[in-house]
Amino acid sequence: MNELIAESLELLGESDVDFYGRVYEHFFRVNPDTQGLMTHMDELTLGRMLEEVTRLLMVEDLGAESAYVAFEYNNHKTAYSVQSCMYRQLFDAFAITVKEVVGGKWRPEFDEAWINRAKELEQAFDLG
Ligand code: HEM
Repeated sequence: MNELIAESLELLGESDVDFYGRVYEHFFRVNPDTQGLMTHMDELTLGRMLEEVTRLLMVEDLGAESAYVAFEYNNHKTAYSVQSCMYRQLFDAFAITVKEVVGGKWRPEFDEAWINRAKELEQAFDLG
């Protein structure tokens, strides 16, 4: 478990904001093309996708997820025309939203943890 990421995510539990909704808002603002790819998705599917992203953000050994990551990457590319750059945009949108919602309880060491994690995930998706 990536402790700092997990700790920062735990702080979200104290808020009643529609967190996933906000992540998607940021994501679609950064790259409006992504919204077009996702219009057919219902709330449940949108939620399930970010649950998986959350799991990958916290998982200790990303290497052990390489087969899953490769599967999602290829499937997203061929079935949904998802472009590589969209992953970084999604991770950034996620991080910005966590920081925004956590507000005053955000700790300085979270910044580095999130930057490093985004880099690790980019590498896992072979985008680096
Ligand atoms: C770490 C990154 C990502 C993970 C782990 C992930 C995971 C998933 C999962 C598990 C689903 C299936 C949900 C379900 O049917 O239950 C899904 C669907 C989908 N994802 Fe992602 N996703 C990621 C990034 C992205 C990005 C960057 C985009 C860009 C727009 C995207 C677009 C979509 C679309 C369009 C679907 C379509 C679902 C459908 O038509 O059934 N995903 N994703």
